[in-house]
Amino acid sequence: MKKLTFIIFLALVPTIFLLSKCNTETKSGSAKDDTTAALANTSYGGYNTAEEWGHHIVTIAGCGDCHSPKKMTPAGPVENMDLALSGHPENMPIANVDRKEMESKGAIVTNDLTSWIGPWGVSYAANITSDSTTGIGNWSFDQFKLCIRKGKYMGLEKARDLLPPMPWQAFQNMSDDELNAVFAYLKSTKPIHNIVPQPAPPLLVHK
Ligand code: HEC
Repeated sequence: MKKLTFIIFLALVPTIFLLSKCNTETKSGSAKDDTTAALANTSYGGYNTAEEWGHHIVTIAGCGDCHSPKKMTPAGPVENMDLALSGHPENMPIANVDRKEMESKGAIVTNDLTSWIGPWGVSYAANITSDSTTGIGNWSFDQFKLCIRKGKYMGLEKARDLLPPMPWQAFQNMSDDELNAVFAYLKSTKPIHNIVPQPAPPLLVHK
């Protein structure tokens, strides 16, 4: 009888071993899943997708302050979300001010904050919606990265430098992941066709 119990025990050993191994594997498997999930979350800044993270960055960086036309309210200008990020409206006339005086004294901005006059001349906030002809719809990520990291118009190496007040000197510090998220979000925006005017050089000569 003792012998039989011993044989049964021996027969069970591999089963017990297999079961326990299976158990640890399941455990380590789920631990791995957790780590992967944590990493995936980290790379989207805690958001579910690159677009959502990009939307968050665009919101806190105030891109719309300059890039979105505004609606006038009793409390002042607020972003016109129907035209979000579409840049200085093509039909809006240049501010009716003495440009030379403005250039010599400081800077002035139109009341919708999309065009600026200062010592650099006149600059107009760009259309950064996903529109393929007037926005960034046809840009590659490399273009976007070069534009923000080096302050180059259209993200082209030989193009002109971006004018104030586009704060690319601050935004160039975004990580590749952050830039990627912002780009993914901009690519997902509603395309708005709006041809932003080209900037004008200063009237005063600066020595
Ligand atoms: C203080 C105002 C301001 C803020 C804030 C701002 N921009 Fe700009 N941005 C401008 C202006 C003005 C231009 C046009 C500069 C020029 O023509 O040289 C511009 C140009 C750009 C361009 C270049 C477009 C092209 O056709 O080359 C990109 C891309 C851009 N901005 C993205 C952003 C993003 C993304 C944010 C937020 C993270 C942002 N901007 C925040 C004012 C601003």
